[in-house]
Amino acid sequence: MDTQKIIAEITQEVKDIMGSEGTGHDWWHIYRVLATAKNIGQQEKADMLVVELAALLHDIADWKFHEGDDTVGPKLAREILTKHQIASEVVEQVGEIIEKLSFKGAGVASQMPTIEGKVVQDADRLDAMGAIGVARAFAYGGHAGRPLYDPDNKPVMHQTKEDYYKAKSQGTSINHFYEKLLLLKDRMNTEAGKKLAQGRHKFLQTYLDQFFQEWEGKI
Ligand code: ADP
Ligand code: NI
Repeated sequence: MDTQKIIAEITQEVKDIMGSEGTGHDWWHIYRVLATAKNIGQQEKADMLVVELAALLHDIADWKFHEGDDTVGPKLAREILTKHQIASEVVEQVGEIIEKLSFKGAGVASQMPTIEGKVVQDADRLDAMGAIGVARAFAYGGHAGRPLYDPDNKPVMHQTKEDYYKAKSQGTSINHFYEKLLLLKDRMNTEAGKKLAQGRHKFLQTYLDQFFQEWEGKI
């Protein structure tokens, strides 16, 4: 099988399905996760076919947009891979990664057994940090009708994925930094991911610092 050709075909299919949407889950999120996953995956000597396919298909149907049903995405991903004649053991590996990928709240542990899954999870998390993470948080917050910030509305450390899902429309975008984004640095799986996370985490802190000073008219 001509792997590069199949990847190009699946890439086109993902572009068509995801298109452009306003919550930070458009094709360009996939593009960035794929680029970061390739960077980390090569350093970690992962199986790059599995890494690339999982990065491409990881958000094909996000659970947040299916009333919390997190089985839709992995099922669709398996269908696409099978249609493109990807070997069944690769389909299984990629499907499992997509099932286990998403962040479900501060107190909900996520387990990712394979190095390929760890790589893609790190890449996905990195896209919620740094300058792009800031942009995505406010884009998503606007989509969900959230205020930017409200000093009386405190962050909540969600202990279940149901709580985390429900909180989507109740908190502020700044709360999301505390409920998720600032926690990601310590949840990186790989050494290469940890290194990239350091700079992006620092940027989030600098951003918040400036935000709060501006809020009070200090600078
Ligand atoms: P990912 O694709 O990285 O798994 P999510 O699906 O959790 O990310 O969310 C997509 C983007 O929207 C991320 O950058 C995330 O931080 C942001 N986001 C998710 N939930 C919220 C929220 N409740 N408020 C603000 N931003 C959010
Ligand atoms: Ni993603």
